[in-house]
Amino acid sequence: MAVKPYLIRIASQKGGVGKTTIAVNLSAALAQKGYDVLLVDADTTNPACGFHLGMEKSNRGYYDVIKKGSNIKEAIGIHAPSGLHVLNGRIDAMPFVISYAEAKRFVASASKLPYDFVILDTQPGFYDPKIAELADEVLFVTTPDMPSCTSTIKLSIEANNRMVKHALLINRVQGTRYELNEREIADMYEGRMSGKLPEDPLVQEGIASQIPVVLNRKKSPFVKAINRLADMYALNKPSKAQPRRSSVISIFRRRKSQP
Ligand SMILES: Nc1ncnc2c1ncn2[C@@H]1O[C@H](COP(=O)(O)OP(=O)(O)OP(=O)(O)O)[C@@H](O)[C@H]1O
Ligand SMILES: [Mg+2]
Repeated sequence: MAVKPYLIRIASQKGGVGKTTIAVNLSAALAQKGYDVLLVDADTTNPACGFHLGMEKSNRGYYDVIKKGSNIKEAIGIHAPSGLHVLNGRIDAMPFVISYAEAKRFVASASKLPYDFVILDTQPGFYDPKIAELADEVLFVTTPDMPSCTSTIKLSIEANNRMVKHALLINRVQGTRYELNEREIADMYEGRMSGKLPEDPLVQEGIASQIPVVLNRKKSPFVKAINRLADMYALNKPSKAQPRRSSVISIFRRRKSQP
C-alpha cells in the first residue's frame, strides 16, 4: 500500500540563514539512506536548489506545475549522483505569488506520489500560515543571533496559533562568545529544537562545485550533523516507511525488532 509522504516545509523570516543548503543536503542525506525523497524548490522569488545540484538549466519546474498546470510527474528530474528526485525552480521565471488554492492543489498531488519525504525549500519572509498548515511539519531555520531568532519566534507564534507542527534548527554555529547558545534560543522558542549545524567552509565548496557536501565530505562537521538530522527524521517519520536499499537505519530497526 502506498504510504503518504511526510511533507517538511523549510522556512525562515530572514534570508540567507541556510534554508536551501539544508533542504538540499537533508534531502540528499535521506536519499542516500535509501528513502524516496522529492526535493521541491518552492522558493517563488529566487529558486536556487538547481545551482546546488548542477540542475539549474531545468526548463520545467514548480512554476509550471503551479501556474501552468503541468503534470508534476513530468516536471520532476533525477539527480543521478544521489538518486534524489527534484522538482526544480525555474531560474528564468519572474517572482510569483502562490494562492492558498494553488498550494492546496499542489500538496494534494505531491501527497499522492510514492515518496517517503517531500521537502520544500521556500523563500524567506512571512508566509500565509494557512499554506504552512498544509505541510506535516515546518522546519524553521535560524542563525544564532538575535535578529534572526526573534524573527523566527514571530513565525513560530503564528504556527502555534494555527496548531502547525514545527521545529527549530540553528545553522552556522561557530561557538563564539557573542552567539546565542542553544539553551538561550530554546528558552525563547516554544517548540521542538532540532539541534544545530556548524559553520563549515566545505558547505560553500560543495555549492561552488555543485556537489552537495553531504555526498562527498563524510567527515565534515556539517555532514555529520545533517546525517544526525536525517536519522532523526527517518526514525520519527510517522508512517515509518522502510528504505528500499539497505542502510544503517534499516539494520538498526531490524535489530530492535528482534526479540
Ligand atoms: N553551515 C554552513 N556553513 C557555512 N556556510 C553556510 C552554512 N549554511 C549556509 N551557508 C552559506 O550561507 C549562504 C546562504 O545559504 P542559503 O542560500 O542556503 O540560505 P537561504 O536561507 O536559502 O537563503 P535565501 O533566504 O536567500 O533563500 C550560502 O552561501 C551558503 O553557502
Ligand atoms: Mg534559499
